[in-house]
Amino acid sequence: MIPFNKATVTPLEEKYLVDALRNSKLSGDGKYTMKVYEELRQRFGYENVLLTTSGTTALEMTALLIDLEPGDEVIVPSFTFSSTVNAFMLRGAVPVFCDIREDTFNIDENLIEGLITPKTKAIYCVDYAGVPCEIDVINEIADRHGLYVIEDAAQSIGSTYKGKFTGNLAEFSCFSFHETKNYVMGEGGAIVFNDEKYLDRAEIIREKGTNRRQVLKGLVDKYTWYDIGSSFLPSDLLAAVLYAQLERYDEIMEKRVSIWNAYHEGFAPLEEMGLLRRARVPENVTHNGHMYNIVLPSDMVRSGLIDHLKSKGIMAYICYVPLHSSPMGLKLGYKPSSCPVTEDMGLRVLRMPLYYDMSEEDVALVIRETSGYLTGQVK
Ligand SMILES: Cc1ncc(COP(=O)(O)O)c(C=O)c1O
Repeated sequence: MIPFNKATVTPLEEKYLVDALRNSKLSGDGKYTMKVYEELRQRFGYENVLLTTSGTTALEMTALLIDLEPGDEVIVPSFTFSSTVNAFMLRGAVPVFCDIREDTFNIDENLIEGLITPKTKAIYCVDYAGVPCEIDVINEIADRHGLYVIEDAAQSIGSTYKGKFTGNLAEFSCFSFHETKNYVMGEGGAIVFNDEKYLDRAEIIREKGTNRRQVLKGLVDKYTWYDIGSSFLPSDLLAAVLYAQLERYDEIMEKRVSIWNAYHEGFAPLEEMGLLRRARVPENVTHNGHMYNIVLPSDMVRSGLIDHLKSKGIMAYICYVPLHSSPMGLKLGYKPSSCPVTEDMGLRVLRMPLYYDMSEEDVALVIRETSGYLTGQVK
């Protein structure tokens, strides 16, 4: 059986978890959370970073921090996870779905300006498959129109755009450390902002609207209610798991990228035969090996290949069902034709298994079975 995804857990994660249980706090902001912040600061240069209970709640925090209000419009790709959009819809803001680029499946930066109205407040862009979006262009449009840019970097930790790590590219970035991501803490995430002015309020929002964090920092002796907020602070036990993962940063990154490269090489002959399209990565970015995608000629070929791989114990996954044509998207008045590239790719993209413990033999088997099916050698 080759699962679609599997987290890597070693004795190091166990060691830190047990140490956190015995010697740290069970609630948040204990010694492992602080170690994670230091690690993220040193490795990626994040000065203002807070761990959150998920990538979803990191996104929800951004909607609170930029004071989105009912009726505000937010430009967002439809080819994303529901969390990107729920985050601001919970504040009453309205999604304006933008189509994607055919190569990266990221928001098509050339279409953004045409969607801006006097009600537009923000652009939520997504680094699909860990490949950063064309952020310079997006930031430049946002600057000209006075909009916020929030990068949903749930999948792109460690990726770079023009030599800079994600998390340093937009005003806000949100990461996920969910079990399915490259570096995991079970359920968890982080919000990073480039301007320190957001820090105090972000800490309050993350702590149920109180200034409890200031008590922990020894700045005040009692805490009270300052703002709206929620329970967005993760347990230090989970931070201990993440800290172990970050200590293994290079080995995890190298292994994932090597599997990605093996797929890329293995699928080259199929691309030459016109049987699939391989993943595409623009020259100005590097990726973190989060996902390997192929694009098949049709929905039917994709379904057939999924079934064939499943019969061999290999789990491949269809990525996203576009949000604009999902039941909720239709309820909001969108039509499948609103984002034609998204609609088309939503039917043809296939995500191959990729995880740290995947052996070379398993990768070779996935390539072999895919080749066999697509060249008609097996049914
Ligand atoms: C693009 C994107 N945004 C947001 C999320 C939400 O992250 P989490 O599962 O940590 O809440 C995910 C994770 O699945 C994602 O892939």
